Amino acid sequence: MENTDKNNLEQSDLNIPEHVALILDGNGRWAKKRGLPRTAGHKQGCVTVEQTVEDAARLGIKYLTVYGFSTENWKRSTEEVGALMQLFRYYLKRLLKIAKANNVRVKMIGDRTRFDRDIIQGIDTLERETKDNSGMTFVIAVNYGGRDEITRAVKKMMEDCREGKLEADSVTEQVVASYLDTAGIPDPDLLIRTSGEIRLSNYLLWQLAYSEIIVTDCLWPDFNKEELLKAIAQYNKRDRRFGGVK
Ligand code: IPE
Ligand code: IPE
Ligand code: MG
Repeated sequence: MENTDKNNLEQSDLNIPEHVALILDGNGRWAKKRGLPRTAGHKQGCVTVEQTVEDAARLGIKYLTVYGFSTENWKRSTEEVGALMQLFRYYLKRLLKIAKANNVRVKMIGDRTRFDRDIIQGIDTLERETKDNSGMTFVIAVNYGGRDEITRAVKKMMEDCREGKLEADSVTEQVVASYLDTAGIPDPDLLIRTSGEIRLSNYLLWQLAYSEIIVTDCLWPDFNKEELLKAIAQYNKRDRRFGGVK
């Protein structure tokens, strides 16, 4: 892209989506292209996450939700899962600094109970110490699966029914949403998936009902502010009808 185009893109009055959801995919392919182990791709991918949090916060995005590890990713080799857990440990600490420096509130969605105790503590600390930050909310989806989230929500609703805290007749879409991990967070306006795969891979199944979807061939470790702005520019051309007629 020409420099002038880039500047125009940055300075133009783009309508910035309130909530951007990301499926960061392609770390393995990025590493393979370079003859490196898959874990090298994950390492570089973490650097890109850090940079994207800063870029998104500066652009005025209010919520950024990033899919970091799915309930299905446990199927990968012990080595790869182990390396991802080590990176997660390390980045939990780094993220605390980045969140503080950028006034970012961090929240985790997914089932954290399956992680090692120190990781759970790291997540708790990160959420607790950033909860009063008033800038962007950065949501990390780890050990997250849309079906798992809905299943846990249904279980909790049934428990509440049994204890007399909830009645079947009072269940509305809003009530269901309040039982999901994303309670209180608006639905994503824009979903960006890197690396070309056109599927949801069990991401935010309830919440993405009316999100605009953009798939880019860019591999996640190569993603940057320019790519983010390109996706937002495409989003700006979409006609969101929500089932109505314009
Ligand atoms: C995304 O990159 C990161 C995770 C899912 C943890 P991948 O590891 O899926 O990379 P590809 O799809 O094999 O290239
Ligand atoms: C989706 O990527 C999950 C995350 C990005 C964490 P995958 O690489 O696991 O998805 P599939 O296997 O291509 O559907
Ligand atoms: Mg993948």
